[in-house]
Amino acid sequence: MKMTAKKLKRLGLLWPALIIAGVVAGITVLVRYAGTDSIAVHLYYLPIMYAGYVFGDYGAIVVSLFSTLLCGPWMAARYELDKPIMQTPADMLVRMCTFYVVGLAASRASLELKRRAAEAHMLYEVARSITSTLRLHDVLDLIAQSARHVMDAKGCVIRLLDEDTDELVPAAMSGLSQEYWQKGKVVGAASPVNGRALTGEAVQILDVTQEEGFQYPEAARDEGISSVLTLPLRTKSGTCGIIRIYAKRKHRFTEQEIQLLTTFADQAAVAIENAELYEDIRRNYYETVRALTTAVEAKDAATYKHSERVSEVADRLAEAMGLDADEREMLRFGCILHDIGKIGVHEEALEARDTETPEQIFYQMHPLIGASILRPIGFLEPALDIVKHHHERWDGDGFPEGLKGQDIPLSARIVAVVDAFDRVQYAGGRGVKTVATKAALLEIVSRAGSEFDPGIVGKFHKMMLGADGAQAETEPDAEPASSAHSSSPPESGAAAANPTSATDADTEDPAATDAAPTPTDE
Ligand SMILES: [Fe+2]
Ligand SMILES: [Fe+2]
Repeated sequence: MKMTAKKLKRLGLLWPALIIAGVVAGITVLVRYAGTDSIAVHLYYLPIMYAGYVFGDYGAIVVSLFSTLLCGPWMAARYELDKPIMQTPADMLVRMCTFYVVGLAASRASLELKRRAAEAHMLYEVARSITSTLRLHDVLDLIAQSARHVMDAKGCVIRLLDEDTDELVPAAMSGLSQEYWQKGKVVGAASPVNGRALTGEAVQILDVTQEEGFQYPEAARDEGISSVLTLPLRTKSGTCGIIRIYAKRKHRFTEQEIQLLTTFADQAAVAIENAELYEDIRRNYYETVRALTTAVEAKDAATYKHSERVSEVADRLAEAMGLDADEREMLRFGCILHDIGKIGVHEEALEARDTETPEQIFYQMHPLIGASILRPIGFLEPALDIVKHHHERWDGDGFPEGLKGQDIPLSARIVAVVDAFDRVQYAGGRGVKTVATKAALLEIVSRAGSEFDPGIVGKFHKMMLGADGAQAETEPDAEPASSAHSSSPPESGAAAANPTSATDADTEDPAATDAAPTPTDE
């Protein structure tokens, strides 16, 4: 008894149980004096219905039986001249049946109400997720989980159609094992079941092991799946995939269930359309930014296509360092824009970058100019650190703020390394590589701890040797120089043996002085 009370308390059901018990006791006292034929007996419906609502079928049955017992043969039907007239067995039987039916009806109605509430809540959560996040896979994961939960199914998957290969590529899964998830390629139009779904039909299979058109019946049997319902994901531009619900037992999906899954399918389609739209906007935005950067770089021969190359290599380094997708996207924007401030720097100042002249001071303002140009664009705020701090040095001797060590934002430390590496390699300008990867790497390594974060240099060195090791071993020290930049490339062996050889070789070309470890290495 004590244990039951504790359990009820833990579940938050102790108070409802006590209230029901108290009300039943009170009604019984009333009926004891008024008789079971009186209207007071109908008051029992209240605790019975409440028990059905709170505790479900079992609660309704227990309270209705208990109430029937309390109004048993020992209760008078009525009093005539203070003399009790007893009940007939038929009265008691009818009362018992009525109590039982009312209790069960209340329980079922409550279940339906709770199910509808859960559905509404899930659909609201999914709709909120669609409007609050642009991460398609997060939204599809939530839709798969919600659909499975609301439909009380074993599992749910969402697959997107790759029209080139006719493969239904997995996008989200809930409730199924990894083995089943990775069972193999699922074909689209070529499969009888999926093909019908992709034409817009709701396809249900009562027993997957008996259905010839089902692609992996053995895997489904091993997974404990009996019935499935497949619906298309329809966007404005056509069907882009399917959503499928799996049931453990043989189950014929009702019209109501199909309608519910259709709602989830429609939400998934909206999420996919949103993601495509966002991707278009993002791509156009990136291309616009890239065009702007190219225009800026065109005025400085030494940095032709520099930002694009920095962006590509920094993205690989960020991936190797485990940065997430959002951080990497902002890093790419930051890289492509890191020298945008040069638009406000005069050509003479750009050329005077390595001299101790007043122009150099203007040159050193380009990170601040860049940051002030971009600051009004809220979307690019996370990329501002890169633009503003890509010339800070690990030892604090950089510009514009002289930040030191870990005070320099991580993204700016990453870009500083890749930026300098690119400058060493392409010191000849106009996109001509004049220094071999290995030699440029040695140059960067020699500056670790003074100019660059040694940890990042270590990872960069490892990544470049891992990815480009073969190329570094076999490539010529320099690609054929253009007629405008015909400085002699260094010998491969010499460059590898001497970390400063890249710098030495470049000193013949004024533009190649970038390779020197100076704070204004741009
Ligand atoms: Fe710069
Ligand atoms: Fe740069």
